[in-house]
Amino acid sequence: MDPYITEWLNLAVRWVHMITGVAWIGASFYFVWLENNLNRENPKEGLSGDLWAIHGGGIYHLEKYKLAPPKMPETLHWFKWEAYFTWITGVALLTIVFYSNADIYLVKPGSGIEPMTAVAIGVGSLIAGWFVYDFLCDSALGKKPMLLGIVLFVFLVFASWALSLVFSGRGAYIHVGAIIGTIMVGNVFRIIMPAQRGLVKAIEEGTEPDPELPAKGLLRSRHNNYLTLPVLFIMISNHFPSTYGNEYNWAILAGLSVISVLVRHYFNTRHGSQKYAWTIPTAALGLVCLAFVSAPQSNAPSAASSHSHDAVAPSGNEGATMFVSVKGIILERCTVCHSQSPTHPAFATAPAGVILDTPEQMQLEVSRIVAQTVTTNIMPLGNLTQMTQEERALIGKWAEGGAQIQ
Ligand code: HEC
Repeated sequence: MDPYITEWLNLAVRWVHMITGVAWIGASFYFVWLENNLNRENPKEGLSGDLWAIHGGGIYHLEKYKLAPPKMPETLHWFKWEAYFTWITGVALLTIVFYSNADIYLVKPGSGIEPMTAVAIGVGSLIAGWFVYDFLCDSALGKKPMLLGIVLFVFLVFASWALSLVFSGRGAYIHVGAIIGTIMVGNVFRIIMPAQRGLVKAIEEGTEPDPELPAKGLLRSRHNNYLTLPVLFIMISNHFPSTYGNEYNWAILAGLSVISVLVRHYFNTRHGSQKYAWTIPTAALGLVCLAFVSAPQSNAPSAASSHSHDAVAPSGNEGATMFVSVKGIILERCTVCHSQSPTHPAFATAPAGVILDTPEQMQLEVSRIVAQTVTTNIMPLGNLTQMTQEERALIGKWAEGGAQIQ
């Protein structure tokens, strides 16, 4: 497809994805907040609690029924389309960005995996993720929410490790996000909505609603609540090459997920007690530790120090001489895509706005170039232009020496 059209399609779908995602997560946060803030002292007959709130210049009074009101209201608002549309647009985006250019975005460079095989693994992982999750929830573990949570976490970490063997860092991350997103929407579609329909049906028929269904719905809805923060990180992880570009990207993701679940837990419980206040400083400390342990060893790339005799930054003249080689490397390995007019068929304009046609542009972008090609091996994307370790090392050395161009 014409890359210009793909870009606008990407824009439109991504925009809708964000809007519906915000609506979905907003509703999820709001209802968990409602549940946690209900005033449960001396509730009226048939209620489990009520709550007063002020917002947008008006005062609201909400009441929650123990199970159901004696008579159904005329209008009952449901929350499902934001979930469904988030998933549908998410899968569309996955297809537009990752599957239609699987050789560039999805396949792990050097893994030798065919693009179509990678797409099949990706789609399979979404389906398998849901079935494994649903099976675990319905197993005996379902009665032990804490243990279930730990097993689910281990399962997701395993999935992300396995995906990192075949997918690029970004490809692996986005699939973990998509697996979690599929689980979340599956919970809405297969568990929460049927439970709610059962409840409404019972009320309309005047029978006693089965308390099992809402209980199951509540557990799944809690899972969704805890899963939102890791998913949100994954959706913006694209901006953080030090995470997905790291050799142990799956472990970094696991660490960030633990941190986010700790934070979520505090916000879910703080109204009842401050018992979990420790999770906030712990999460902050965890973030610092994670940044520390995953830091690049040194900016001087290992290939360089083992090959060359001097690890010392070059002096002025040497830097300029070095640039002659660096320029050649960048023009050969990067400008098929990163040019005013890219020749790679997948791009109509320079990706991420990074243009590397002239020495001045190369100098201007030096820190980003280092982040993408020296500290990590993210660029060239899919290593399509087959950049070597020695070339990466040379760019690193040139940058260290002040990125001189003359
Ligand atoms: C096959 C095409 C392709 C090649 C070759 C390529 N890139 Fe990229 N590059 C991309 C795409 C696509 C993006 C945008 C990624 C995204 O969606 O965020 C990008 C983004 C970047 C960014 C911006 C990252 C950011 O967000 O800060 C830098 C810097 C970069 N590339 C440097 C390079 C360098 C240096 C080379 C050569 C060694 C190179 N790229 C080779 C496709 C390519």
